[in-house]
Amino acid sequence: MTDTTFRKIVKEVQGRIVDLAKKNGWMWFYNLHQKEVVESANDLLKLYPKAERKIVLISCWLHDIAHYYAKNEKEILVVKKSHHIDGAKIAGEILVKYKLNQEEMEKIKNCVLNHRNHEGYKPKTLEEKVVATADSLSHFKSIFYLTYFKFHPEHSLEVMVEIDLEKIERDWRDLGILPKSRKIAELEYKVLKKMLSGYRG
Ligand SMILES: [Fe+2]
Ligand SMILES: [Fe+2]
Repeated sequence: MTDTTFRKIVKEVQGRIVDLAKKNGWMWFYNLHQKEVVESANDLLKLYPKAERKIVLISCWLHDIAHYYAKNEKEILVVKKSHHIDGAKIAGEILVKYKLNQEEMEKIKNCVLNHRNHEGYKPKTLEEKVVATADSLSHFKSIFYLTYFKFHPEHSLEVMVEIDLEKIERDWRDLGILPKSRKIAELEYKVLKKMLSGYRG
């Protein structure tokens, strides 16, 4: 794809996400997660320069697009379960008018589909791995783990600590997909883990 097409796609996707985020109250998620994922991907592209930059960055903008349709924190917990599948579908619908070649279209849809590193949806290509790793890496680069009570205000501190520690370990494990990424997040991983484990006494 040309640089112009790339820029047009990013502009449209970003615009759509911001509109939905404003309408449904997800600007905080956009600010602390979406932007960080794109930044993390740019950091990873420096470490893994063979990955196709345009495919990676468009996929990062699209990876959580399904989230922004949720109307509130309760609804997002349901939407979240299939947001990789729904997101890949939405990506296809948005991109069709740009007349990308079949291969580019498939690459982007698969990056969205496999960004969670779940069973049956494991990242396979380098581009898919960069997107999945950028998603996990972004969690260490923002206040992501501190947003727990926005989704579960009724839970106790003890539960938050246990669930966050599990999530931190899963994210750290996922950074193993592209091991050089661990250097970027090592300090944050250790500090977060120490602080949360400390609460257990
Ligand atoms: Fe996601
Ligand atoms: Fe994400």
